[in-house]
Amino acid sequence: MKVIIAEYAGFCSGVKRAVQLAEDSLEKQPIRSLGPLIHNSQEIARLQRLGIHSGDEEILSQTSEKGEAVLIRSHGVGPQIIAELKDRGWHVIDATCPYVKKAQKLAQEALKEGYQVIILGNKEHAEVKGLRAWTKDTAIVVASWEDLKDINLPPKVAVLAQTTEKEAKFNELVSYLQGILDEVKVLKTICTATQQRQKAAQELATKVDLMLIIGGRHSSNTNKLWQICKSLNVNSHLIEEVGEMNPEWLKNKEIIGITAGASTPAWIIKEVVMIIEENNEKEVGIIEEQIDVNSNDDLLELKSFNPGDVIKGKVVKINAEEVLVDIGGKSEGIIPLEELAYKRVDPKEIVSEGQEISVEVLNEDKDGNIVLSYKKAQIEELLDKLEQAKESGEIITAPVIEIVKGGILVDVGIRGFVPASQVDRNFVADLNQYLNQELRMKVLELDRSGRKAVLSQRAVLEEEYQKIKGEVWEQLKEGQVRQGKVMRIATFGAFVDIGGIDGLLHVSEMAWGHISNPAEVVAEGDEIEVIILKIDPIKQKISLSLKGLIKNPWENAIEKYPIGKIVTGRVVRVAPFGAFIEVEPGIDGLAHISQLSQNRVSNVEEVLSVGQTVEAKVIENDPVKKRLSLSLKEIATDIEKVEYENYLGKREESSGVTIGEILKEIGQKL
Ligand code: F3S
Repeated sequence: MKVIIAEYAGFCSGVKRAVQLAEDSLEKQPIRSLGPLIHNSQEIARLQRLGIHSGDEEILSQTSEKGEAVLIRSHGVGPQIIAELKDRGWHVIDATCPYVKKAQKLAQEALKEGYQVIILGNKEHAEVKGLRAWTKDTAIVVASWEDLKDINLPPKVAVLAQTTEKEAKFNELVSYLQGILDEVKVLKTICTATQQRQKAAQELATKVDLMLIIGGRHSSNTNKLWQICKSLNVNSHLIEEVGEMNPEWLKNKEIIGITAGASTPAWIIKEVVMIIEENNEKEVGIIEEQIDVNSNDDLLELKSFNPGDVIKGKVVKINAEEVLVDIGGKSEGIIPLEELAYKRVDPKEIVSEGQEISVEVLNEDKDGNIVLSYKKAQIEELLDKLEQAKESGEIITAPVIEIVKGGILVDVGIRGFVPASQVDRNFVADLNQYLNQELRMKVLELDRSGRKAVLSQRAVLEEEYQKIKGEVWEQLKEGQVRQGKVMRIATFGAFVDIGGIDGLLHVSEMAWGHISNPAEVVAEGDEIEVIILKIDPIKQKISLSLKGLIKNPWENAIEKYPIGKIVTGRVVRVAPFGAFIEVEPGIDGLAHISQLSQNRVSNVEEVLSVGQTVEAKVIENDPVKKRLSLSLKEIATDIEKVEYENYLGKREESSGVTIGEILKEIGQKL
């Protein structure tokens, strides 16, 4: 035996979507539908068991219990009802069928454009009442073209139909209007779901021995299906529920066809199939001709949008106050100006016509327009990118916008913070140097809800440093002269980057002369030439020298400072045993305490102080030991000697007494 289920049997896409939305929403909050969600008592009972109850219009006079939701069924309602529900605190879940939604929008637009709207349909049907409400209750509702015979119509009309109306009836109406009026705008709103279901049932009925039509006895569309099948002289039975199945019907049947009305859920169809299987000893082959409703071209064009969805759209129009976006599904959404950017801007600076953009669905406004946010979608996209960058370690570039306590603020689309310790590989005393600069960084942390990120430039620099370190180590040799950059100054010296690796330039290697502070010689950022003194590959340390590139002053000290030469120098240090006098950078001579004066000196500072410039006589020069001994006392002795000799000379000259006689005289006196 073979069982074939007809295409389009059961729920149409609009009803299926409404039931699905109700079940999905139930996970978040209690829910009631405004009117029965579906015309099938078994499905209604199932939904009630789940907690989805239907409420009638009395909901409109009630205020929602906190967190309760109301579901607008596939027929849709007018904008006033949605506004009223929202005012009363209900969370509105709009399950209006996209076909109905489209009809509502077309009717509303036609009214705005100045047309008298005419609706073909049943004026008591909820869908038609809702449609009319979108025309501010101005639309004329007719059951056929004949209803218009006695009505005086304006010259401009727009005509549409209830979605389930018959095409032929609508065409008659259109022809009538076109015959009597100058301008008739024809709006195509008839849904083909019913016709497709009927056509599929008709085709299947010609191929089977038995047709089972599942659906409510009082449902007109189910009855219509039954009529179609019977008219083809095929054995047909209408069943409302599975218990009505009679196994006798199945006897001697090879192929059984099944179709179902628009309100019949898939689970009832499945139950019927199970009964057939149970009542057949042979294996039953099941063929589902029912196609996925979403593969229907028409339906593909109609989409539903939920708040929070981020979707793609194309900018179709830019006004001073809003941007219109084609979001597919024959729908246009509106981005109000305040949803375009975080500050008020000219919309044309942000988007251009024809541009494809991402937008987030916010809600539906009172006119039924889908309200979109560009700025929120941008943020979401941005957060996704940052999240991805965080995971992958990708480097991102952003400008520094502010220096704050403890770090730097960067603009990565959201607030980015770079802690001071993450700015560079080395400590940076003054972060102001980075203001307005572009930094390359890695994302360390991302707070999506707080829209904040913590970033690190140091991580990028460290990674690059480690990468080139190996290559540079290979090239380095002791005695090599390299160009370097002073990165950091410490009390004991300076760290110099010599091509990706830092070496230490100790203060003692900065100059031949005495240096008390490295900053006297170099400053951070200075480009200098250094010589590599020592490489320690195990400890990964490099010692550098600056003075190694300057001529050693001791090399010609013996010629420059012979014994007996009077030199001028500056006292650079005093000690209990004497004073150090710098005669040139790199050569300090020692004037021993005993060499400071002809008189006895008990404290060096009685005679000399640091910084004082003095003359001294070289009394010893040992370039090997780098020792230069100076004497101040000997200068005094020399002066006295010269003065005495001058005195003797003058006496001899004036008195005629010989120097020998004078000396003898002095010796006697002494
Ligand atoms: Fe169903 Fe929507 Fe058509 S509810 S019948 S798909 S108009």
